[in-house]
Amino acid sequence: DWTNASVIDEQIDLIRESVGSKNVICALSGGVDSSVAAALVHKAIGDQLTCVFVDHGLLRENEREQVETDYVNSIGVRLVTIDARERFLSELSGVTDPELKRKIIGREFIRTFETAATDLVLEAKDEGAEIGFLVQGTLYPDVVESGGGSGTANIKSHHNVGGLPDDITFELIEPLRALFKDEVRAIGRELGVPEAIVSRQPFPGPGLGIRIIGEVTEGRLSVLRRADAIAREELTKAGLDGEIWQCPVVLLADVRSVGVQGDGRTYGHPVVLRPVSSEDAMTADWTRVPYDVLSVISNRITNEVDEINRVVLDVTSKPPGTIEWE
Ligand code: XMP
Repeated sequence: DWTNASVIDEQIDLIRESVGSKNVICALSGGVDSSVAAALVHKAIGDQLTCVFVDHGLLRENEREQVETDYVNSIGVRLVTIDARERFLSELSGVTDPELKRKIIGREFIRTFETAATDLVLEAKDEGAEIGFLVQGTLYPDVVESGGGSGTANIKSHHNVGGLPDDITFELIEPLRALFKDEVRAIGRELGVPEAIVSRQPFPGPGLGIRIIGEVTEGRLSVLRRADAIAREELTKAGLDGEIWQCPVVLLADVRSVGVQGDGRTYGHPVVLRPVSSEDAMTADWTRVPYDVLSVISNRITNEVDEINRVVLDVTSKPPGTIEWE
């Protein structure tokens, strides 16, 4: 498509011009925006870019592999993965309040990234190089929301990232600042970003951490991850991805109910399916998923995930219910 190609060419020129011979880092989340932004910057400056992926342990099944294997293989970008799973679990230990969970996850994410960025800066220095820039996948709606500028600018000057040592500053590269989500997806496809990433539904930064109602533990994450993977697989198979904005699967970890399986009584946990249709996540309606599809999801989850003995459907619109349960 010529318009996408020209947007890409224009940004490549701008990025090369701004960056010069300096190096660049980018925090990859596995979502659409950061993946496309990094792919664009990589196309412009190749190995001058290093991406950092923080595995906080609150990811869904396969998400780390999608970044480490599929994305890296198709884009060819240099990637450093930080395995911070234990750190996040220990910080979240005993925490049940949703806002506190968000605060802890956000704080630990920034700290983890800053440590990784500092290491990369020092490493580069040893090799006589300098990391001068940080890529962010800011889109036009984010720019408008935060009241900033015309949306055409590519570089904001001297943005200092919170907790970095005082002598480390990065300028910000935001190559998607003028674009809407559907344009970002189109450009991502043009750049060869894997379809599973380009077409990914919204997933909150705090991840599965706010989809476990109660304390987040490794065992609970594993249970939720398996149930979520089944629901996503079946909704996709049923051709519902276009109709569904997102479908949180929520583990009611502190609730138990009695069930029966074979000759035995079970005392397990419920999961909630929360399929919603929406234009912008500000308002939403519950998606009328066909009963047959719900039935397959319910049977598979209760058969394949031992700890879960009940699957329930959330039929609340937003408002009054939010999309997420926490
Ligand atoms: P709610 O639950 O407020 O969600 O109706 C609206 C949209 O925002 C996402 N969401 C978040 N995204 N950090 C994020 O990055 C968060 O803390 C967070 N909370 C909710 C949610 O998935 C939905 O798309």
